[in-house]
Amino acid sequence: MGIQTLEQFISKQQSKFPTAKGEFTHLLQAISLAAKMVNREVNKAGLADILGKQGKQNVQGEEQQKLDVFADQHFMDALEKVGDCCYLASEEHEEGIDLTHQTFYPVGKYMVYFDPLDGSSNIDANVSIGTIFSIFKRVSPEGPLTMADFEQTGRQQVAAGYIIYGSSTMLVYTTGKGVNGFTLDPSIGEFCLSHPNLLIPSTGRTYSVNESNYNQFSTAIKQYLQYCKDMDKETQRPYTSRYIGSLVADFHRNMIQGGIYLYPDTMAYPNGKLRLMYECNPLAFIAEQAGGRASTGLMPILDIMPEELHQRVPLIIGSDKMVKMVEWFIHEYS
Ligand code: AHG
Ligand code: MN
Ligand code: MN
Ligand code: MN
Repeated sequence: MGIQTLEQFISKQQSKFPTAKGEFTHLLQAISLAAKMVNREVNKAGLADILGKQGKQNVQGEEQQKLDVFADQHFMDALEKVGDCCYLASEEHEEGIDLTHQTFYPVGKYMVYFDPLDGSSNIDANVSIGTIFSIFKRVSPEGPLTMADFEQTGRQQVAAGYIIYGSSTMLVYTTGKGVNGFTLDPSIGEFCLSHPNLLIPSTGRTYSVNESNYNQFSTAIKQYLQYCKDMDKETQRPYTSRYIGSLVADFHRNMIQGGIYLYPDTMAYPNGKLRLMYECNPLAFIAEQAGGRASTGLMPILDIMPEELHQRVPLIIGSDKMVKMVEWFIHEYS
């Protein structure tokens, strides 16, 4: 049967909807193009003058890395040019960019939120990093964007995905009909279907959390972490601990092998550290589409009504049974 490229795959999906105008296809092509450019830079990061800090802080108060800025510019540029978007928002910008006000490129109906480079503190150490994206469709028909366009929960995402720049580079995405993974074949410069219909194992043996925050965790989370370490033959505990510190990489490993990732609230981050619109929502959509679960511990991530662009929420995500177990601990100890 041979290989199937991302472009061929998207066109085939699109052909099932004869009324579709191909805008969504273009959008994913733009994301794939920007991803290839970032991949090229990430791969030669040690050679080029691209490693290290930019010398500026972003809106999050974090030190921006040169690759944060490079990735942000390339995704912004590709998404603006494609002409199918009306709004773009990135971790690296305080405000989202309303494209309905500009006349240079055509304006479309899609709103894209993205984390151009996830795990950027790991870049200089050659550790896997990623990009995360979330796509909504505006609900107002045309003209200026309205509150209703911004007040959409994660369940209303039309697509979401991530790219992992790892030992190989992969693009994983969903449009709400399952999850498919594509591996970049550098010899032809194409993402090729390698993981059709990805499913997260319903349970696993890996837990992933920044345990240096242990003293700041709630009793429920402390008790759950003790549960992970306790001996039990039936559930194969103690579990094993893995924490890369790149959300995309930790999430991807758990997608493939089964496991759970937690970033609960701490003293430094009373609502958790991770951002709803461009980290938690897209990964939650993928997790649910792959048969997994994503929760704050009290409610599904996908049901949170956003209040602000850079809003942070606690994230517990991964294998269905493992996330349910944390929810049980939270219910029991709160
Ligand atoms: P980003 O690099 O996009 O700012 O995201 C950083 C996030 C995420 O990738 C990672 O899982 C988490 O921060 C790690 O935080 P800690 O260093 O506090 O564990
Ligand atoms: Mn950052
Ligand atoms: Mn991130
Ligand atoms: Mn980032």
